[in-house]
Amino acid sequence: MNLNIITDQKNPKILAIETSCDETAISFLHDLKSISHHVHTQATMHAEFGGVFPNLAKREHAKNLIPVLSLVFKDIFDNEIWSADLSVNNTQQKNHSPNISENSSQNISAETQKNVTELLAREGNLGTDLLAYIGSIPNQIFIKIKEGIDAIAVTYGPGLEPALWVGISFAKALSVIFDKPLMPINHMEGHIASVLAIAGDQTSIQSETSSDTEAKATKTEEYIAEKSHIDFPAIALLISGGHTELVQINSWHDYKILGQTVDDAVGEAYDKTARLIGLPYPGGPAISALASKFREENNYNWPEKIPESNLKNRIFELPRPMLHSKDFNFSFSGLKTAVLYAVRDNLNKKNSENLSNSLTDNEKIALAGEFEDAVVEVLTQKTNKAIEEIGAQTLIIGGGVIANTYIRESFKKLTDKLGVKLLIPEISLATDNASMIGLVATLKIKDGQNGLVPNSKEFAELKADGNLGF
Ligand code: KG4
Ligand code: ZN
Repeated sequence: MNLNIITDQKNPKILAIETSCDETAISFLHDLKSISHHVHTQATMHAEFGGVFPNLAKREHAKNLIPVLSLVFKDIFDNEIWSADLSVNNTQQKNHSPNISENSSQNISAETQKNVTELLAREGNLGTDLLAYIGSIPNQIFIKIKEGIDAIAVTYGPGLEPALWVGISFAKALSVIFDKPLMPINHMEGHIASVLAIAGDQTSIQSETSSDTEAKATKTEEYIAEKSHIDFPAIALLISGGHTELVQINSWHDYKILGQTVDDAVGEAYDKTARLIGLPYPGGPAISALASKFREENNYNWPEKIPESNLKNRIFELPRPMLHSKDFNFSFSGLKTAVLYAVRDNLNKKNSENLSNSLTDNEKIALAGEFEDAVVEVLTQKTNKAIEEIGAQTLIIGGGVIANTYIRESFKKLTDKLGVKLLIPEISLATDNASMIGLVATLKIKDGQNGLVPNSKEFAELKADGNLGF
């Protein structure tokens, strides 16, 4: 194996791909900076069914990977990292004009073409389309991409296997085309690393004078240093549609699961509760909007409870599952079932037949408010216990559910009280994306790790692992 294959280990440039669930995401990172970040979400399509169907997700990924990749490549060309010394003119750079006489198809050998076709054989036209797209890129730009990428990162688990596979095969094909090492990344480690991201803004970088750019670069370096300086041990709370986990982190890449859900994940409970109340998928944002109305109407916020004087508005009372259990595990299916019973009781009282229609707007608000109170109480209390028991100095929270403003604010209050540093991702990086995958690859490369060499045995054997753990 060629051990020096990653050319720049200090400031690696990573093309990262994420397709573990219903987001088709590709990013390009330079060190910890996300230079290009694109996410195509299938949420509206899955909303019809109230959840994600793996084979449908896979087909959509296959359809969207090339359009998303072309957006990322366009950002790369527009960015100062490469655009400065490109000798093709701007229009050609920006349009990737397919009519230029010298296009990159000549860079792809017959053997590579065969290899790519085989790698993507199960993904419909993706192989042919990818070769056609790459072939349409002007030669000089193709060479710049090849020179500019140090490694390709891809999520290989956990997640929906058919969805993971299409991303892995696509990433393998790109590895072969550009002859770059492939870094298989754990999606959950991505959620942890998402707190280190620095949003790139290439347009503003480009329009600045060189001294501005220099000043910004210094600031960015400081920012990177500050962000990646984490006092260990840290606790990570991972809260998404598929996971609810408390993880002890002694140093980067050294993880130990302290506890996890024994049934549904917290995001899943949001989604299922939303469905029962008659709100659209994904349920998190919809429920939290109603819950925030409830708190506003009753004038309280965590750690306060609904005031005594307003108790009559607490129409529903839900359990706080496993709040006092001795371990660090969670259970959210009981909460969801309690919501189901609450809705059913309500329906019986009204003699109505349609579960979700039986609730008035006011009742929906009260139910969402009580649901979110239960979630926040359990999450904060268990995390508090873990921080104290481990003596953690830092709390990292990752996963789609931390897009929730109220949960963010509650944890800010908790960590302020405990004197612990809180790291949470920007909202755009809380839900699934590829920048977080690229960040893990960056950390691994900085730690001296290498990727899988295209066509090596390890490369050929890389598989999707739906249940991948830490
Ligand atoms: O991490 P993610 O994008 O995908 C998985 O890996 O599961 O998380 C998606 C989950 C969904 O269950 C969604 O309802 C939840 O995150 N979510 C939220 C919010 N935004 C997304 N939950 C609560 N409040 C939100 N604002
Ligand atoms: Zn996720």
